[in-house]
Amino acid sequence: MTTPFDLLLRNVRLVSCAEDDCAVASAAFVGIAQGRIAHIGRMAELDAGVHAQAECDAQGALLTPGLIDCHTHLVYAGDRAREFEMRLQGQSYEAISRAGGGIRSTVRETRAATASELFVQSEKRLRRLMNHGVTTVEIKSGYGLSLDDELKCLRVARELGQRHPVTVRTTLLAAHALPPEFDGRADDYVAEIVERILPEAARSGLADAVDAFCDTIGFTPAQTRRVFEAARALGLPVKLHAEQLSNQHGAALAAEFGALSADHLEHVDEAGAAAMARAGTVAVMLPGAYYFLRDTQPPPIALFRQHRVPMAVATDSNPGTSPTTHLPLMMNMACTLFRMTPAEALLGVTRHAARALGLQATHGSIEVGRQADLCLWDADTPAELACTIGGSPLRRRFHDGIEQPL
Ligand code: NIG
Ligand code: FE
Repeated sequence: MTTPFDLLLRNVRLVSCAEDDCAVASAAFVGIAQGRIAHIGRMAELDAGVHAQAECDAQGALLTPGLIDCHTHLVYAGDRAREFEMRLQGQSYEAISRAGGGIRSTVRETRAATASELFVQSEKRLRRLMNHGVTTVEIKSGYGLSLDDELKCLRVARELGQRHPVTVRTTLLAAHALPPEFDGRADDYVAEIVERILPEAARSGLADAVDAFCDTIGFTPAQTRRVFEAARALGLPVKLHAEQLSNQHGAALAAEFGALSADHLEHVDEAGAAAMARAGTVAVMLPGAYYFLRDTQPPPIALFRQHRVPMAVATDSNPGTSPTTHLPLMMNMACTLFRMTPAEALLGVTRHAARALGLQATHGSIEVGRQADLCLWDADTPAELACTIGGSPLRRRFHDGIEQPL
């Protein structure tokens, strides 16, 4: 322990998330240098002469990796409260979507907004996410659906990451819905994505990954395959909104392309889960959308466990199906609605969420050499984090080894 630390966290109850059981190591310390975890040990072994620029006595508080929200649609304009009322009166999400509402109504508002208007609206949501412990967030486009508007949304996402102490990964989701100018011409829109939008997003370095919505109100497996082939040719990893409303065998398709993740998955079958296991594709659980749409078929958690498919948990933060910015609440819902364990829920917003973004070598666990993104909680166990409905036991949050005000 010769290197001086920039920051020394003393007396933490450490949940490293490096192990599957999320075991708690009490009376631990963590030394941080140059934004990375430099040393982890037990308080009893801490050299009295150790030098640190700053110190924090956690007094036994729980220390976890910073939370990773690996699936959000954070950049959009407006809201969909009117559609919430329509659904309460009995209309279905699909019916509203087919009548020109749903994703398309957010597309109208997002297209009409300037980049700075979008930034201001999205920044409010980002702040809330961060205040609930998020240190890394994935942000999808998908409410622009034209070259200029998709790039506008990705630029806003990148700028959010530059102006706030949070790591942002961007995903191009041009294949989210059919824009009105392509009505009845879905294949032509897919050609537009493949020939213009995707190459430009890749060339400008604005997209870290590519996603699509493969479903009855989205794109067919054949269209999704075309998007994936184009992404592969440009060297971009893929993800997929799969099996949310019906089984299109999207999970198997995603696995065939070595997808980072397949997300939603309420209707996935065993062949899909097995294919994901073979490909190392993460299953991203989105209990907020399940709850808000009053879905009744939960994703097959037992199947994922049986096939050892890593499970992540995310907010799916969006105006239509999951208007939330509360990742710990999603941990609670993953347990109450999907019967995941609190340890699985915590791994789902840390180590497995990092894998869903391709960041498993640097993020998602507290191990020497990893990014010093950390959360200190007013809690003793991971179960306490998952057991709260809506409150926020977050005490302190560190990004890149620097404490950030809440
Ligand atoms: O992940 N499934 C498609 N996309 C979003 C919903 C977007 C919306 O309705 O605006 C989702 O649930
Ligand atoms: Fe989504």
